[in-house]
Amino acid sequence: MKPAVLVTQRLPAAAMAQLASGCTVDLHAGRDPLPPAELRGRLQGKAGLVCLFQDTIDRRLLEAAPDLRVVANVGVGYDHIDVACARSRGIVVTNTPDVLTAAVAELTWGLILAVSRRIAEGDRLIRAGRWQGWTLDFMLGAELHGKQLGIVGPGRIGRAVAERAAAFGMRVVAAGREPPAGASRGADTAGGDWRRVLLDELLVTSDVVSLHVPLSPGTRHLVDRRALTRMKRTALLINTARGAVVDEAALVWALQERLIAGAALDVYEREPAVAQGLLALENVVLAPHLGSGTRETRAAMAELAVANALAVLGGKPPLTPVAPREA
Ligand code: DGY
Repeated sequence: MKPAVLVTQRLPAAAMAQLASGCTVDLHAGRDPLPPAELRGRLQGKAGLVCLFQDTIDRRLLEAAPDLRVVANVGVGYDHIDVACARSRGIVVTNTPDVLTAAVAELTWGLILAVSRRIAEGDRLIRAGRWQGWTLDFMLGAELHGKQLGIVGPGRIGRAVAERAAAFGMRVVAAGREPPAGASRGADTAGGDWRRVLLDELLVTSDVVSLHVPLSPGTRHLVDRRALTRMKRTALLINTARGAVVDEAALVWALQERLIAGAALDVYEREPAVAQGLLALENVVLAPHLGSGTRETRAAMAELAVANALAVLGGKPPLTPVAPREA
């Protein structure tokens, strides 16, 4: 008998077909995530779960799913999954690293350019019929060339963003979770040339600060009032990681007070809600969680998640397992 798998959102056709070839699929085809009680109910008798970051896979859910053997997340971030609990119950958790790195790095650069050169603001101005023509001092932005990019979290995506900085003539510094043993030059980079510094130095000296840390108890509100007051008044903050890495209320305050020059965000603390304060500000670019949103990448994410589920259910090691993260 084929193992039963619950899929919480329709996947691209190739991935659905791949899954159906080895499993009995129960698909939640609705556009909103399954409410927790329904998710618990639908998980009864399921050996596999293919889910997304909107699904909360907590202890309560895992304890109510005695047959579950694999949670295959379609996405790289797994802050919505209690990985330690899953592991203690012998449930394998997998994610989809690497396949979305280029897409998120490209979107990050799109946001950096959009906010530094006021592209979204200019688009709004034209559409509102308010463009009165070119003058020497009209809608001036900030040049990137010769400036410093600060990467907070030089993991796969952070490094991919750093590598692309050379194309814009920017120098790069990076700060990770662990304090650097002295300021070493980018020996641990996959390309690019950057220097490791402490987070405080990064905040104080960077012209663009781009966030690429996973969300964990240690990184929740990493960018808070204090961090924002350490940044240059001309600095731009970019977040394509997770909304809660930034204290959104503190960010609204910092932007209103002009403590920093602007922000470009792809993620929010309470998606799909966006703080009213942010909506009212011209110097903020808002994207609706588009980081991995290319046809190529979404197909690759779904196929990798399905391959992980099929591997585990077929008694093989997963391709890309996640390990519990230290808090
Ligand atoms: C992820 O992969 O974690 C994204 O946020 C969804 O693409």
